[in-house]
Amino acid sequence: DKTFRIAPSILSANFAKLGQEIENVIKSGTDIVHFDVMDNHYVPNLTIGPLVCDAIRDLSHNVGALIDVHLMVKPVDRIIPDFAKAGADIITFHPEASDHIDRSLALVRDSGCKSGLVFNPATPLHYLDHVMDKVDMILLMSVNPGFGGQKFIPETLNKLKAARARIDAYYEKTGRQIWLEVDGGVNANNIAEIAKAGADTFVAGSAIFGAPNEADPNRYDTVVAAM
Ligand code: DX5
Ligand code: ZN
Repeated sequence: DKTFRIAPSILSANFAKLGQEIENVIKSGTDIVHFDVMDNHYVPNLTIGPLVCDAIRDLSHNVGALIDVHLMVKPVDRIIPDFAKAGADIITFHPEASDHIDRSLALVRDSGCKSGLVFNPATPLHYLDHVMDKVDMILLMSVNPGFGGQKFIPETLNKLKAARARIDAYYEKTGRQIWLEVDGGVNANNIAEIAKAGADTFVAGSAIFGAPNEADPNRYDTVVAAM
């Protein structure tokens, strides 16, 4: 899949005008809204839940943008149907946060969403060994989860290559394409290298919403175009 997608992480948006922020990034041509859910338990931060997802669903779906819900929550199962009802299109979770990974993946698909596993920087890819058929997206964290604005961990490039090799081998066998997303510290300076390592979907929070001159409505276009 040689399609590249930018997924702005609204974690770094101005929450006092979230709707406007989302409209602006969508206008800039991005087609995925990355939605970070943190529970102050699995990760040391607390963010947004199904209520906010529901509030932005029309805004996103009316223009064909997908809502990509990244669960940093433990346990995961209970909240999955709530996000599906709130308009999530993709739901990803961390294998360490689920007692029964296969079951949680099935729960996501049964709720009508695309499913994905998220790998922390030190989490091995072998969690994929027996569930490739049940995964639509693989998300590699290039920072430790919990906060926006951290620095990209370079070892992620090796891991991306390994994940890309798994995805390509799986595609050879089945003809089914799995997306490879990267999350954390992605910006205009490193995105080309990250793409070369095999990612096709790029989360960017502070690089997009934290771009200088918030008053300039074109700042999103400038940043997205640079990426
Ligand atoms: C971190 C989140 C990321 C974060 C990325 O736990 O999963 O999605 O918002 O922010 P930047 O792009 O600023 O690293
Ligand atoms: Zn995220």
